[in-house]
Parts: sequence; C-alpha cells; structure tokens
Amino acid sequence: MNLQHTSTKLPSVSDYYSATQLRADRWSALRETAESMLVHDVAGRQGAKLLQTAEALLDALAPIEVYWAFPGAHVFEHLRKLLEQRNIEDLSISVRRVARALTSGAYRRRTIPIGSDEIDNEDYEDESTLPPEDRALGRPYFEVLIVDNVNEHQERFLRNNLYRVRRAEDPFIYEPVIVPSLEDALMGILFNHNVQAVIVRPGLVLKSKNVLPIIQQYLDRLKEDEHVDALQPSEYGPEACRLIAKVRPELDAYLITDRSAEDIAGMDLGRCRRVFYNQEDFLELHLNILRGVNRRYKTPFFTALKEYSKQPTGVFHAMPISRGKSISRSHWIQDMGAFYGPNIFLAETSATSGGLDSLLEPRGPIKEAQDMAARAFGSKQTFFATNGTSTCNKIVVQALIRPGDIVLVDRDCHKSHHYGMVLAGANVVYMDSYPLHEYSMYGAVPLREIKHTLLKLKAAGKLDRVRMVLLTNCTFDGLVYNVERVMEECLAIKKDLVFLWDEAWFAFARFSPMYRQRTAMSVANTLRTRLRDASGKEAWDKQQDRLKDADEETLLNTRLVPPPDARIRVYATQSTHKTLTSLRQGSMIHVNDMDFKGEVEQAFHEAYMTHTSTSPNYQIIASLDVGRRQVELEGFEFVQRQVESAMAIRRAVTSHPLLQKYFRVLTPSLMIPPEYRESGIEAYYDEQDGWSDKWEIWTKDEFVLDPTRVTLGIGGTGWDGDTFKTDILMDRYGIQINKTSRNTVLFMTNIGTTRSSVAYLIEVLVEVAKELDELLDDASKMERLSFDKRVAGLVEHVPPLPDFSRFHDAFRSGTDTPEGDVRTAFFLAYNEDNCDYHDLDDVLVERLNSGEELVSASFIIPYPPGFPILVPGQVISPEILSFMRALDVSEIHGYRPDLGLRVFTNEALQGLNKKTK
Ligand SMILES: Cc1ncc(COP(=O)(O)O)c(C=O)c1O
Repeated sequence: MNLQHTSTKLPSVSDYYSATQLRADRWSALRETAESMLVHDVAGRQGAKLLQTAEALLDALAPIEVYWAFPGAHVFEHLRKLLEQRNIEDLSISVRRVARALTSGAYRRRTIPIGSDEIDNEDYEDESTLPPEDRALGRPYFEVLIVDNVNEHQERFLRNNLYRVRRAEDPFIYEPVIVPSLEDALMGILFNHNVQAVIVRPGLVLKSKNVLPIIQQYLDRLKEDEHVDALQPSEYGPEACRLIAKVRPELDAYLITDRSAEDIAGMDLGRCRRVFYNQEDFLELHLNILRGVNRRYKTPFFTALKEYSKQPTGVFHAMPISRGKSISRSHWIQDMGAFYGPNIFLAETSATSGGLDSLLEPRGPIKEAQDMAARAFGSKQTFFATNGTSTCNKIVVQALIRPGDIVLVDRDCHKSHHYGMVLAGANVVYMDSYPLHEYSMYGAVPLREIKHTLLKLKAAGKLDRVRMVLLTNCTFDGLVYNVERVMEECLAIKKDLVFLWDEAWFAFARFSPMYRQRTAMSVANTLRTRLRDASGKEAWDKQQDRLKDADEETLLNTRLVPPPDARIRVYATQSTHKTLTSLRQGSMIHVNDMDFKGEVEQAFHEAYMTHTSTSPNYQIIASLDVGRRQVELEGFEFVQRQVESAMAIRRAVTSHPLLQKYFRVLTPSLMIPPEYRESGIEAYYDEQDGWSDKWEIWTKDEFVLDPTRVTLGIGGTGWDGDTFKTDILMDRYGIQINKTSRNTVLFMTNIGTTRSSVAYLIEVLVEVAKELDELLDDASKMERLSFDKRVAGLVEHVPPLPDFSRFHDAFRSGTDTPEGDVRTAFFLAYNEDNCDYHDLDDVLVERLNSGEELVSASFIIPYPPGFPILVPGQVISPEILSFMRALDVSEIHGYRPDLGLRVFTNEALQGLNKKTK
C-alpha cells in the first residue's frame, strides 16, 4: 500500500523527512482522533468524519507497524477490531496507552496492558526523566528481526521458543519482530532503530508486500547497485547478511541455512557473526544474540575505572584531588565536592598509580577499548587522544611527514594543521576552496584543483616528494567531499599518496548509511576491496590505453581509475567530543593504512609521545569508551533523530511567511555552485515538492551539504552574525551557537537535540521577526533608510574573500610549483630584527599597488572565519590587505592593531636567499 494515497486528510509522506517521525505523528493523531470520537456521536456528521480519519490512520500505520515489536501485530489487529465494533471507549484507552508507551519508552521497561479490563497504574514517565541510577539498574531492551516467510502457526512456534529460552540472569531483554522477505529485512533495519540483531532463516523470500515511500528511495538504489533482483532463492539469505552489513554494519546477523557448509564457506556474508545449520537450537541462538550485543555493550576501560574507584586506596602520589581528599578536608571548597559528586574524584587516577592501563603504552583495558573503537569506526587501528583533534592532527602530520615532503592542504583547514606543517618542516601547497563571497565563507577544494596541483608537481618532476593530501571533511559549515572519488583520482596520479581527512565534525557520520559512504574509513575499506577485485585491474588497463598521450585538460576531465597496486593509506582525526558522547577534548585517530605496520608505526609512536601528556585525564578516556558503546548500539537512532531535528528547522524557516522576510536557510544551491551538484537538486526541502531525494544528492554530487548544519542568512535583520549571536540569541534567549560569518549564523544540531529545543528555536526566530516587523511599522523615514542601509551593507557590500597569494621566492625550491617552506619562515620571525611593522593604511595599499613585495612574518587568523588569511612567508596581496581592512571582527589572531602588520624586512629575506644559494 502506498501511504501517499491513503487519505487526502492526512499529511502526505512528502511532508515528512523521516519514517520514525511519521510513525510518531500518526500515533498521536490517532490518539487525538479516538479521544475526539468520545465526545462526538459516531453516527453524526462530525463523528463519521472522525471515524474515517481513524480508519485512514490505522491503514497508514499498518505497513509501518510490521517492523516494530511494540505494540505488535496482535494488538494492532485488536485496535482495528475495536474500531470496527465502534467500541470507541476501549479504543481510546488502548490507543492512549500505546501512544504514551511509545513516547515515554515505557514499553522497553515493562509489559504495557492494552485492554480496558486491565489495570495500568504504572507511570508513563519519559525514560529520560527517570533518575540515572534507576535506569542503570534496568535491563537494556532491544529487538531482534527474524527474516522468514512463516505462517501464523510457525510464527507462534518461533516466538514461543525464543521466550522459553529466556533466563533470569540474561543481561538484556529482547522482543522478536518477524518479517517475510529480504526487502522487509532492509526496511526493518532502516526503520526500526531498536533492532540490534537479525536472524536470517532459510524460508525468506525476496520481495516485500509493503511500500514505504520514505525508505523506498534508498532501498531501490541499494538493490539496483547490488543487482538484487537477479538473485536465485538460495542466495537470498547470504545476500541479506551482506546487505545488512552495508546498511548497518554494527548489527549482528545470524544466518540459519540448510545449504552445505562448503557452499557457504566461499560467500561474502558481510559481518555475519555465525552460521547455524540447526534451525531449532533456540538456546544456542539466544545465547549468541546476547553475547553479540554484549560485545558492543562492553566498555573495558570505563568498567576498569569504575572498579578502581571502589577500591580503598591510600594516596601517596602527586594527586591530592584523587579520592576527593583535598576537597573533603577543606573548609573553603566544599561547593566543588557538592557540585561534582564523589565519583569523579574517586575515579581520578594516573597510570603510575598502578592498576589501570597507560594511554602512552596501552596493553590492558585502554588497548581493548581502542580496538573496540577501531571495530566501531571501521579502522584498522584507533588511538585515543585526551587533548582534542588539534593534537591528533599534529600527531598524524608529524608521524608521516619528513622535512621537505610536499603536502597539499586546503588553506582554510584548522590551524592545528598549519602548526603541524611548521613542526614537521613540510613544503606546503595551499589549495583554495571555492569562495562564497556573499556569505563570507569558503566552500571546499574542487577535485579539479587537487588534480591540477598534482599534475603540475608531476610535470615538474616533484611527484616523488608529494607525500600527503590533507582535507577537511566535513567543513565547519557542513560541506562534505566525495571522498571516494577524491582518493581514487589522486591515487591514479600518485599511487602511494597518504590522505589525512580531518573529520573533527564527522565522528557521527559512520552511523548513518547516507553519511557513511563519505567517510574516510568506510571509503578506505571500499577501495581495499575494489583494488583486490579483478575488474579494477581491467578498468585500469583499459583507461591506461586510452590516456597514453593525454594532455592535462583530458586528465582533468576524465574520472581517473587508480592502479591495482595502489596503496590505501588513510588517516582520519575526529573530535568525538564535538558530535558524540565524550567529555571535552576526547578525540580519536583512525588509521587505515596498508603500510602502517611496515613503515609508520615507530614514527607514529614517537609523534604520539611528542604530543601526549604524561598525565592524561582518565575520565576523558572512559567517556570515549562509553561514547563508542553508545554509537554501536544507538548511533543509528541518534543520528537519524539529529537529521530529523535539522530538517525540521529547515522546513519551518522555509515555509514560515514571517521568517522568510528576515531569514534564509542556505540551501545546497546557495552553498555549492552548480558545477559541483551533478544531481541538480537545489534544496533539501522546498514548499512545492517537499523533501528531495537525499540519496541522489549523496551518491552523485561532488560536494554535499551536511543537513545537520543549518546556516541561516540573517543579513535581512540588519544585525551582523556576531551581534545576532551575542546580543540576541545568547543574551536574550539563552541560545548558544558556535559560528557566525558577517551575515550568517550556524545552527548545529547534535545527537542530543530534541524536538522541543527545535520548537524553541523557531519560536525565538518568530519572536525576533515579529519585533522587527513592529519596529519597522513604527519607523520614521530616516530610521527605515538607516535599516535598509544596514541590510545592504551586510548583504551586498561584502568584501571579497582573497585567495592564497604565494610563498615568497625565498621560501620556495623553484618557482614552477607553489610549495613553500613554512617552517623556515616561521622560525625566521623568532628574531625580532628580521621583522618590521606596518599600519593597515592607505599608504600601505599604495605601496602594494605600486608593486612592492611585502611578506607576512606571522599567521594572521581572523575569528571568524578562523583560518589564516596570511601564513609566515606568504606575499601580502592587495586583495588580502583590502579584506583585512574591511574585516569588522573583534578578534584577529597574530595581528596587533597597536603595532601593525608584521612583515619580514628585506634584509632578512635577502639574507635567506644568500644562505640558500
Ligand atoms: C576542522 C577542525 N579540525 C580540528 C579542530 C580541533 O579540534 P579540537 O577542538 O578537538 O582540538 C577543529 C575545531 O574546531 C576543527 O574545526
């Protein structure tokens, strides 16, 4: 059944971004309808209408409910019967109980009595409002999807057998959901985030009888890519396991088969945990299901730390705060103890105290926790860091770059990379991202630019010195690369390139199939498989023939294929604390490098030692361990909800007439030029067509916009980004945001964002817009003119963003290619005699315009945008100077207005020239 045609009265499916939200809304609509029916005679006109709506809602819920254990098919049928019998009173009681249990999560903790003859005195408190201690004592709940085309009798047999093997000591409780086909299995895991394990039985069929338009887009694409429709029935089971791993790799799949073991042995079963040949060994299956979930639930370091904190210990160590002793004995800092509670101090410890593992040389629970994180994030090795991705970036750069190596970097990358380049002595080629002048922000580096740079270095005979391509994925503003395409094409030019993807903002991306395909670790694994495949070699051979004498333009216009002997060498750094549950500064380095063990491990160890504190904070490490558990068990659900929240903001601002007057959500078409949007899709949501096909965007386009980051153009309000952030959002409404530009503010949703916080934000924006309306209604002509001028100043007269100019010749090893020795420039400035200062005045502009060459001696980093517009050794162009002069931000790091712009003296530069000659 197609939901779109269910009833004209219900909101259409295109009004919904997510199936989960659609489900929740339909249950609450059903509850309201049932309650209204209580007061309207169903024989009357109004009552008949309500009756129709209730029927339509039940029809619309029917294809959704088959994928959930609660309330389950049985209860659902009961509700239908009550409606048919016009037993409105009982219907209303039952629907209310179901709807409340669904919103509160009560069904996870206890059996919900549905019938009106059953008493239900228990609370329906929202799970999140219960005391954490109570929740920690309960057994976590999940659902197991069983894929088998069974009749009613067989279904009962399956259920009863699984209930029979439950034991009081089981650490978790689960309910089965039984669906008949491979397609249903995929819809089930895409839709039902409670599913933690899937049992694929031999009786499954291929096709579903259901159509869920919201999920169908993805399903169709997946099936098309995998040629599912051409499968033989005997292949359905193994294929189901493989596809489950593609969609939600964290899940445990169990294949029950009657095919021979030899037959199964050679097949790709994704991450299938076990193959069973005996269909009826339910206890064995039950124990495996629990063990599988427990494998993800385990938190070796957090558990060890909890155990440690229970031990009585005398502290003769340089850690007076340990066990809270310095606080409990104090007369003056009791409030600290009261605020934090005792556990945080009981758990304060150090590697040298003994008993727990050491971050610098992990062999015990920290090592185990890191290995589990590697599994969760798809890396070969994962390393924890307790001082943020700033440090992770420096570690990776130092481990891989030798002095003189050439590194291609996006210039608007985080400052930690620039400092990393200085420390490592890299020769840096800064690549420009496409600019978004109207919003004073940069996009990302087009692949064409990256290939052009590599080909230029190749032509100059310097390709052997090129070591790394370093890019930010995704950017602060939410631009995401086509990681697969970038790595493939770069490897086609240089087959052993190392990639460092700064995923500071992207740790959550692994846990949604849409995002995952654009993450470094997932692509590294895909490329490993592809390179091993014979068809990869064939494709490369064919292309080599075609491109034998190709010129640069042809190479730039061709999608290049990597050679079969390319090395996959990929690193990703993630600020776990930015997007997942972790204490501040908790970050991870993920490694997927074929040459790590052979070539890098020792250097990596040294780099790790260089940058890691010998007193790392163990609470941060424990939080990384727990954060990993969370995403392996509920990352899919949380990310889905996060996207839903962001989409709700997009939709509200786009469709609210008052908000449209002053605000504008920046759509993909406003943030990504058309040449990088092959799908041609302009917005995630528009009023006429509803939600656009996000899968299309995410598979095709060179750049996509992370929908969880909503950039709002606020130029129309007459306030600049900074004022709007501080004076309006923060001071008046207590709303915190992170980034602004001249005429935009960025709202980031996260896995903790709730529907009510989204509603509050919209409320605030509406209030601000109303106030502006009133202000302008009463404004004098002069005031109106002044407002219009302010708006024009913010929206139209925006200083153009300058490109990277070039390194001064003194820092280059030849002028045919752009790389520069930023380290020499950086340290040259340590001697004040080498530096001079100039005011940012008209005289300076005149000097530059008349051809004088001035070279920056410092990093100049305005906030926002937060990346250097000048680096040491860079020639100051007139455009950069104009930009600096037009900047009206309060913070410009590296620039002191009382002294002026710090540049190298001619003597210093000449001295350097002489030395290098
Ligand atoms: C792209 C990027 N990389 C790295 C970092 C540094 O991360 P951390 O704050 O974890 O040190 C940031 C911080 O904002 C960032 O935006």
